[in-house]
Amino acid sequence: EKAGYKHFMLKEINEQPRAIRDTTLGRVSFDTGKVFLNEMQITDEDFRTASQITIAACGTSWHSGLAGKFMIERLARLPVDVDYASEYRYRDPIADPHAIGLLITQSGETADTIAAQRELISKGSKTLAICNVVGAAVTREAQGTITTNAGPEIGVASTKAFTAQLTALFILALHLAQVRGTITDAESLHLVDELSKIPSKVEDILRSVDDQCFQLAKVFHTANDFLFLGRGIHYPIALEGALKLKEISYIHAEGYPAGEMKHGPNALIDETLPVVCIATKDPDDPSSVLKYEKTLSNIQEVTARSGRVIAIAIEGDEEIKHLVEHTIHIPQAPELLLPILEVVPLQLLAYHIAVRRGCDVDQPRNLAKSVTVE
Ligand code: F6R
Repeated sequence: EKAGYKHFMLKEINEQPRAIRDTTLGRVSFDTGKVFLNEMQITDEDFRTASQITIAACGTSWHSGLAGKFMIERLARLPVDVDYASEYRYRDPIADPHAIGLLITQSGETADTIAAQRELISKGSKTLAICNVVGAAVTREAQGTITTNAGPEIGVASTKAFTAQLTALFILALHLAQVRGTITDAESLHLVDELSKIPSKVEDILRSVDDQCFQLAKVFHTANDFLFLGRGIHYPIALEGALKLKEISYIHAEGYPAGEMKHGPNALIDETLPVVCIATKDPDDPSSVLKYEKTLSNIQEVTARSGRVIAIAIEGDEEIKHLVEHTIHIPQAPELLLPILEVVPLQLLAYHIAVRRGCDVDQPRNLAKSVTVE
């Protein structure tokens, strides 16, 4: 049932092109760029008049929520709060019945996420679920569900469910933008066209970087610590890269916003520290290029202190190679879609390091697939 793969995790990493395609199909028109979210008790009017979106989730799903904030705020100009579901209830959240609660959960059974949903409902919010399991607890209490069609995920470390969540969030952001009138038809069509190219770009990455990640694992599997850096929407992917590595390889890893390094963590850098920097850009987007340039100066701060940088960069960026020890190239995409591509090499890097360290990648110690206690 591992379909020839050594582990479920590797199989599921390789299933991502299909998971992304299946999450998209039937929800977007590739002819008009329109998004259809059917079977919802949340109406377009609710989406139009919403005061904000409140996201609550745990772990990897929380990371997709952080990336979703950038998508929704940028496309639909609607404020988004992202909370750890385990924290939400305990801060006596301010009631706003016009806020729409968004629960992101692979299993739909996470106790903290269910508790946050009940808190949202008690304050009068409608709740929407992004969930990978049809009929799961969170979907039963929600007024609407976007099912991620990733298929069952067996590996404890979430991979294809995460990229399917990012896909669902992108589609939701587009839908909100369309009903709220913050996007033109031409922009919608362009973004939907770009979304349709993502599965084959993920296929390209799976083909082109697997061996490179295997080789990098040989070099770095004995490290005691890792840092992952990113800026803007790439920061949640840095967090996700760090989480994948720590949960399956047991190497201590931290994700950090690139610009925060000089406010403390630069003190950690020495010649033994691998630093994975997400340094991608959309060359057609000036704000993305600006972030990239700032990230390059953060990279130089790391190399000046002898840190060992592994950069994730877009194809055609040859310049960055001269600044860092290793570069992993991924195809170009609009900035809001880049996270789906960026996380794939980070999953493979964590996987190959964990295998080389002899860890049980599908069943890491102390972890359960579904966390049904608070
Ligand atoms: C990490 C991982 C966990 C889950 C978290 C929430 O790889 O899988 O961090 O993301 O336990 O689970 P769900 O999404 O089922 O609510």
